[in-house]
Formats: sequence, structure tokens, C-alpha cells
Amino acid sequence: MRIAHLASEVVPFSKTGGLADVVGALPPALAALGHEVTVVVPGHRTTLKDAPPGEPRGEVAALGLTARLNVVLHRNVRVVLLDCPALYVRPALYSLPDGDFPDNAVRFAFFARAALAALAKLGGVDVVHAHDWQAAIAPLLLRYDGETRFTMPAAKTVLTIHNLAYQGVFPPWALEACGIPRELFTMDLLEFYGSANFLKGGLVSADAITTVSPTYAREILTPEFGCGLEGVLANRRDTLFGILNGLDTDEWDPRRDPHLELPFGGEDDVEEGKAAARQLLGREARLAAGERPLIGMVSRLAEQKGADLLAAALDEIVGLGFDVVVLGAGERRYEEAIRAAEAAHPGRVAAFIKFDERLAHRIYAASDLFLMPSRYEPCGLGQMIAMRYGTLPVVTRTGGLADTVIDAHEEGGTGFVLSELAPAALTGTLRRARAVLADPVRLATMRAEGMSRDFSWKASAREYLKLYERLTA
Ligand code: ADP
Ligand code: GLC
Repeated sequence: MRIAHLASEVVPFSKTGGLADVVGALPPALAALGHEVTVVVPGHRTTLKDAPPGEPRGEVAALGLTARLNVVLHRNVRVVLLDCPALYVRPALYSLPDGDFPDNAVRFAFFARAALAALAKLGGVDVVHAHDWQAAIAPLLLRYDGETRFTMPAAKTVLTIHNLAYQGVFPPWALEACGIPRELFTMDLLEFYGSANFLKGGLVSADAITTVSPTYAREILTPEFGCGLEGVLANRRDTLFGILNGLDTDEWDPRRDPHLELPFGGEDDVEEGKAAARQLLGREARLAAGERPLIGMVSRLAEQKGADLLAAALDEIVGLGFDVVVLGAGERRYEEAIRAAEAAHPGRVAAFIKFDERLAHRIYAASDLFLMPSRYEPCGLGQMIAMRYGTLPVVTRTGGLADTVIDAHEEGGTGFVLSELAPAALTGTLRRARAVLADPVRLATMRAEGMSRDFSWKASAREYLKLYERLTA
């Protein structure tokens, strides 16, 4: 089968979060099952000079702009980077701390159009699998735009929701510059409370909809998690599936992690390996020497991730005897709160306000506990990475966190689940975790349980494939 994935970011070329991990790992897993897989992404870059990698393979034109197709073969997947400097040479992918880029509607409507044109030019595909609002215009155009449909008449479409809170909502007058016909601005298609909603346009058009965990697939049908689209999704519930994300187990492997001084991976060496990682990180983070357990957090600093909860509970967490290291960037108010906690607790709290792959690996390896008190979590990769590195996750019972972490109270426990989303519940759970960390036998059992889980893409890639096969049958 010929399968194309369309997304706004992909490891190793661009990343702000788990979407890039998924689009970097699922396509190679599909290719390994014997399929012809293409990934199309914007050729993001920060300066005009650092041209995106790849061989030039012609150009496509849309909306009065052109994109050069730069093609790279990466892990048996053909990656097409759309090089369009006017739209994709920016200091960041979507926004600056003060807000989104004002031309995001055009940046991603162009992306969808140019990606489909590129696929047609390269010979067409059987399945177009779009991810999140940035690619959601592709299924809309393939279904309702005659000219686009004509280029790949047989292609089936899948749209995956990685995060329903981000929908790509723009004023209706933005549609013209996006080349989206005015007839598509109706209640059944793009219109959403008077605005144009790219994600909605994709959800009503795609042949199938998926999201990234079974629990989130149920949650988004409720007003609490549906972000206003619960009705649209309920209409399509027969073709809405929850398929759990996997991890790129090559990228996230403590046995072969180039960012660690002493790799580890089994019951026999986990303690030593983690102690070495702790030493290394302790120096880098300027944590005071000592035997205190370490809590790590690697996260976008957004309300979704419970960054406010962490900020509210930090003094007490330090009082419980934990050291804390946070790596994250995002909303200014949380960045400031975490910096302030670092200043208030020198040597005990370390704040890295940036995006840093290397440091992320070191934090997953060095920490005893990994904190992810999310308000909602479509899947979450951090908790799975943590378990692979022998770090016990502390999570809320929502979305993919509920599907992947088993509380210490239960058989086969791999982590700790908060009873509710409140600072007191967090500190209460951390007291419970502290007792486990002080008990070498229980700690070793829980670590081994998490480290032996299969977080690979194998099973989920097969599920996607079954879906593609049903659609194209
Ligand atoms: P989300 O996609 O909602 O941000 P996930 O848990 O699915 O959450 O994925 C987050 C991914 O981004 C993980 O691979 C995590 O390690 C990484 N990440 C998040 N923030 C940072 C950061 N500041 N530096 C490095 N990696 C980060
Ligand atoms: C989103 C979600 C996260 C998920 C990731 C990859 O960013 O917030 O929960 O793991 O996408 O699907």
C-alpha cells in the first residue's frame, strides 16, 4: 500500500512535542511491515541560510507561492520537506511567547494544498493520513474541492487528533487567502460559532478519525473534553478509533543512549546506571550534593500539563525532601513561576527554560519520579519514556496516562496515579511515592515492571494498517 502522512513536525527534522515523535516513528514502523510510506512536512528553518536537507525534486505551486520539494530517505521512509521560505523561515514553528504567527491560516492551508500537489506529482498514494489541525485541510480538499479530488480520486483519508484543544480557528475572511472556496464555510463543514475551524473541516471530511489512546477517544465525546467539537465527533463515532501511541524504542533506549555516560537497561544495572546519570545531571543542574530523591519533569509549560499545579506545590515538594528538575518552555507565567522556585530553593530546584533533547534524555534517566499531572492527555509519551528508563511516573488518571500507568496499589504497578487534580493530592501522592523509593525491594519491582513493558510501535502500526486496509478494500 502507498501511504502518506501529513504533519507539521517530524523527528529528526522539527519538533515541539509528541506529534513529531509519532510522525517520526509510526511511518518507519509501517515501512517495516512492507509498505511504501511518504511523510510530507513543512521545511521549517530559522534562517534563510540553513536550507532544509534533501535532494531537490521539483516544485509545486499554490496560493501564489511555490514550495521546493526536498526529498530525503530516512529509515526507509520518503520524507518530503516543503521549502517555502516566505512561510517557513521563522524563529519558531507556530508562535512566539506573545502569540501565534498572524499568518498561520495561510501557512497551513498552503501546507495541505502543497502537500497534496506534491503527492500527486510523485505518483499518488492510496491513503492520506493527516495529523492535527495543521494538516486537516487536506481531507477537506480531497473530499470537497473538485480540482484536488481529481488529482488523487481513489485516495482514502484518515485524520488523527493528537490534541483537540488546538483546532486552528480563524476569522472567516482569512479563508480567501487560504484558497478555500467560500461554499465550504457552512455549518456542516468549516463554520464553528462564526469562525472557520480547520480541525472541524477535517473531522467532517475524513474517511476515518483516530485519536491517540482508547480513553481519550471516549473522553472527547463528552463536553468536559470535547472542546466544543463533541457533537461533531458524536456524529462520526462509528468511524472514530483510539489507537495508543508507541515509542521510538531506538531513540528512547537506556541501553544505547548516547547522552548517558553509563548506559543501563536491566535489573542488574539499573541502579548503577541511574546513579551515574544522577551524578552527571546533578553537576549540570547545580543541585546540592546529597542522597535526596529526584523528581523530573520534561514538558511544554501549558495549562494542559498541570504546570500551575507544580508551581503551586513546589515549596511543599521541596519540604518533603525531594530535589526537582524541570525542563520546559511555553507560557511565560509558568516559566516565571518555575524560575522563581529555583531562586527560592537554590541547589534543590533546577529550572531549564528551553527545548533540549540531550538534557531531556538525561533527566528521564536520572530521575526517580517523573511528574506529569496533566489536566487532559491524549496519549502522552513522557510517562512511557520514563518507565523505559526505570523512572516511576506520577500522573493523573486521564487519557493515555490512564491507559499506560498502573498505580502502585495495584497488581503490576508501574507508577502513581493522583486521586484528583489538586496540589494536596499531588503532595499526598508524593508522600506515598517517597515510601516506595525508600523500600529497595518494592522500588526494584516497580522499576522492572515498567522497564519490561512493550512500548514499541509494532502492535499499533498493525492497527493503523488494518484501518487503511478496511478503507481501501
Ligand atoms: P505533548 O506532545 O503534549 O507535548 P508528549 O508527552 O506526547 O506531550 O510528548 C512530549 C515530547 O516532547 C516528549 O518526547 C518530551 O520528551 C519532549 N519535550 C517536551 N518538552 C521538552 C523540552 N523542553 N526539551 C526537550 N524535549 C521536550
Ligand atoms: C499531543 C498530546 C500528547 C500526545 C502527542 C502525540 O501533543 O498532547 O498527549 O502524546 O500529541 O500523539
